[in-house]
Amino acid sequence: MEQRAQWGSRVGFLLAAMGSAIGLGNIWRFPATAYESGGGAFIIPYLFALLTAGIPILVLEYTVGHKFRGSAPKSFGRLRKGFEWMGWWQVAIAFVISTYYSVIIAWAIMYSFYSLNLSWGDDPTNFFVGDFLNLVDPGQFGGLVPKVLLPLLAVWVITLGFLGRGIKKGVEAANKIFIPALLVLFLIIVIRAVTLDGAGDGLSAFFTPQWSKIADPQVWVAAYGQIFFSLSIAFAIMITYSSYLPKKSDITNNAFITGFANSSFEILAGIGVFAAIGFMAHSYGMSVSELATEKGVGGIGLAFMVFPEIISQIPGIPGLFGVLFFVSLVLAGLSSLISITETYVAAVSEKFNISRIKSVIFGGGLSAIISLAYATKGGLSLLDTVDHFINNYGIALSGLFEVVALAWFARGLKGFQAHANEVSDIHLGGWWRLCLGVITPIVLGYMMVQNLRGEVK
Ligand code: PHE
Ligand code: NA
Repeated sequence: MEQRAQWGSRVGFLLAAMGSAIGLGNIWRFPATAYESGGGAFIIPYLFALLTAGIPILVLEYTVGHKFRGSAPKSFGRLRKGFEWMGWWQVAIAFVISTYYSVIIAWAIMYSFYSLNLSWGDDPTNFFVGDFLNLVDPGQFGGLVPKVLLPLLAVWVITLGFLGRGIKKGVEAANKIFIPALLVLFLIIVIRAVTLDGAGDGLSAFFTPQWSKIADPQVWVAAYGQIFFSLSIAFAIMITYSSYLPKKSDITNNAFITGFANSSFEILAGIGVFAAIGFMAHSYGMSVSELATEKGVGGIGLAFMVFPEIISQIPGIPGLFGVLFFVSLVLAGLSSLISITETYVAAVSEKFNISRIKSVIFGGGLSAIISLAYATKGGLSLLDTVDHFINNYGIALSGLFEVVALAWFARGLKGFQAHANEVSDIHLGGWWRLCLGVITPIVLGYMMVQNLRGEVK
């Protein structure tokens, strides 16, 4: 049997895991979620979710990958025969995410160029839906939007190119460039943003705690949703990545580092985004909350409609700020896309016993073809719908399956605990089993019910 690929170094693995975690979710999902869910008070449900679910599950997934040394279906299958489907379910979710995540990165590539001469003009919203996505003509549905095709091709060539080169020379090498570069660029953005007029108003809107919100169960649901998406857990990714760890690896410590690095980046993004929004409110003579209600402060709207408006008003060299912002999106996005795509590349190559290259061509190629569906006139609403279902059902359900299966039906958590403790400095105790076996299943079960009821309303 071929020797399993391995990371070249601990730092390489950590950068890849951080690369997966740090993504669009940090930049445009966290700031808006925190703002809408109690501002500074969100820290309580958020930390609770991070410490009782996020990091404990990360430890569990690293342990599963490290112990069973396979892609998610293979590792789950080795753990217990009947569990293989759970890996495929996670791989399927990752596959679906990759089809639209790639398109958003392609948009960000185009917007990096548009930033140079502020091509979106005076009305970025109209530019985005009209000129760029070509959605305004309601009579025409379907048909590819040509502007997106070239950057989308670039996204897939880069992603599949790195994946084809393998774990150490491909995935690790990519993240060793992308993540440090992302940090530097993003720090420059944040520093520029907090020195803009009105930044303070944005920051106080973001940080001022609304304590009453903590009593709202929806806020807790939002915190869990954010942690799962943001840490890339329950998506087969972290199991796959940790399956390439050398025998001697500190699992628990690595999980804490990944978790805290991701959260730090999230908070940094919150500061940058809200400082910029404060500046925009200031220049329009509005309050931050008025502006937030009118324009929205998250998601695609934030990046491709609100930010261009902000960028155009930045004193000095606005184009530079724009380039830094969109290139950051591209880097954060690509490192996550590489990780999502690796899950099915690894799973397919192990299942059908074909080479990595073939699996990259078939699996990645299929995803690339499907991604074209979002590069059509109906693409944006399709993307919204798919993203909605993934966020509301895919994540909670797959997290719930995973913890229940591993904690209740797989000879208990003690075996995993012993495995992790053998290689790690920090020793897991009963608290870890309590978090995974009791607290997290209850919260996720509740979350599923809430989401389903919301749908009925
Ligand atoms: N964790 C990434 C982010 O925050 C997104 C992601 C989700 C990546 C699921 C892979 C899988 O944007
Ligand atoms: Na993240």
